[in-house]
Amino acid sequence: MHPQTGSDPGPVKRPIGVFDSGIGGLSILKALRAELPHEDFVYVADSGHAPYGERDDAHVIARSSAITGHLLARYNIQALVIACNTATAAAVSTLRLAYPLLPIIGVEPALKPALALSKTRRIGVMATRGTLGSAKFGALVASLADQAEFSCQPCDGLADAIERQDTSKIIALCAYYTRATGRFGINTGEIDTLVLGCTHYPLVSDELRKSVGPNVQLIDTGEAVARQTRRQLPEHCAADRVGTCRLLSTGDPSALYLAAQRWLGLDQAVHSLLV
Ligand code: DGL
Repeated sequence: MHPQTGSDPGPVKRPIGVFDSGIGGLSILKALRAELPHEDFVYVADSGHAPYGERDDAHVIARSSAITGHLLARYNIQALVIACNTATAAAVSTLRLAYPLLPIIGVEPALKPALALSKTRRIGVMATRGTLGSAKFGALVASLADQAEFSCQPCDGLADAIERQDTSKIIALCAYYTRATGRFGINTGEIDTLVLGCTHYPLVSDELRKSVGPNVQLIDTGEAVARQTRRQLPEHCAADRVGTCRLLSTGDPSALYLAAQRWLGLDQAVHSLLV
């Protein structure tokens, strides 16, 4: 049958765009796929320009803008999830101004959920230098400062070690930065709740767990972000379809391929992206 005379295939499905500086956003993508199994996703790992956490805001804003522009022009995305705390802190307001009609869901360290769980009222926050130094994070901590004591630890090099899957460095940095954050435990004066304020860190939660002990609660934002995305989605797919996932990388595609296989059980080609 000639394509133009075939039956109407129905509206073309618009995917949800998701990006991070690298593989860390897979921790968010995993929760998104569980919450929205019928939706299509396009994931961009900006590994060619990572890490974001120790770069200035201008770099992160420029990268976030270039990726969002590409996702809109090439894929006509219906919503954008910034699966990166650092990019959210630096660029979410710029992106919302530039694309007022696009639902944009950002990620920030989960201090409020941590507050709801902590009994000792001592909470550790591990994140990038960029996130912890941002005005957005400063305002969040200040608004909660009378309710708990927050020990905020910038973790230079940890996201990069995870990106490179450098196991010995990951082990050393997890031990070093948890020690630097404070004393963990469930007794008075100890940190009983640790916020993973960078989307790369849930990928090494087993290693962090070894350092903080079995009773400390590790908090990440994947599920909350997925629920928020569901609420903001302008279109929903039919429940009888299985969503797809397209993987793009501005750096070494094999890093994203291996990480997606390991963390999401996805076995599919990663396309190179030049933006
Ligand atoms: N995954 C990013 C975040 O959540 C940062 C990693 C990086 O430094 O590039 O902040």
